Amino acid sequence: MIKISVPATSANLGPGFDCLGMALSLYNTFEIEVSDTLRLDNVEERFNNPDNLFVQAYMKGMKAIGRTGSIHAVFHCDIPVSRGLGSSAAMITGGLYAASVLHDSALSKDQIFELAAEMEGHPDNAAPCVYGGLTACLKQNDSCTVGSLNLDSNWITTVLIPSFEVSTASARAILPASVSLKDAADNGAHAILMVHALETGNEALMKLAAKDLLHEPYRKNLIPHFDAVKRISEHDTGGACLISGSGSTCLLISRQPLSRVGLEELAQVPGSWNIRQLSVDPMGVSTLEAD
Ligand code: HSE
Repeated sequence: MIKISVPATSANLGPGFDCLGMALSLYNTFEIEVSDTLRLDNVEERFNNPDNLFVQAYMKGMKAIGRTGSIHAVFHCDIPVSRGLGSSAAMITGGLYAASVLHDSALSKDQIFELAAEMEGHPDNAAPCVYGGLTACLKQNDSCTVGSLNLDSNWITTVLIPSFEVSTASARAILPASVSLKDAADNGAHAILMVHALETGNEALMKLAAKDLLHEPYRKNLIPHFDAVKRISEHDTGGACLISGSGSTCLLISRQPLSRVGLEELAQVPGSWNIRQLSVDPMGVSTLEAD
């Protein structure tokens, strides 16, 4: 069997709403081989059917390369579902990549991205999932343009994952239909400075730039104790704590790791927050090994 690996992703990064995203070292891996009939192993019962996003994406990839047939896949999923860490993008990207890898690498990464963005609807997750690192993307009508951005290597990325889920649908429904011209202009400035701060490693600039006006003020109401998590983690590290994707996970970007005292304070916050220091995944979806 061939083993493939797909990273978690954190979209938005504060003011980069629907545009910026970063791949993280938390993975779903899949052992795959071609099969006449569909066979999925180690899958939660609710996902063990042909509607599974990985399977749907595999079939889409097969159609794109003009092949028929099915797959036997063994799932090893570490990316939590409905937590703003790109689990849907990882499933979709994994299925498309599997179709390609099992058929002479018939799809390029650009083609996989195009198909994944079309199926997922959120290119800001699909882009880092496919290419790795820090990405920016622009969706216009049916096409997406992606740029891979430089990232200072000394940033520390920590995810704070609560026990509760937030659905992307409810996190989008809570957003206003329009914002003021001033807020739109300010957010653009923040997003540009955020990218510059991430590239240069300038923490003071990042703290100023990380302020978002388009989604976080609304979505934090879906994340109980967000303000406490933000206050404690930023005070402890000097970094910036953001909503990861549409939540419920928070992403802390800092120069210092959380201290023992900070971790103890966070442990007192209701929500059973699972705190993990991760690195930025530089590769995106990739093949690990073949038997
Ligand atoms: N940019 C999207 C959103 C990502 O914030 O709704 C969804 O994970």
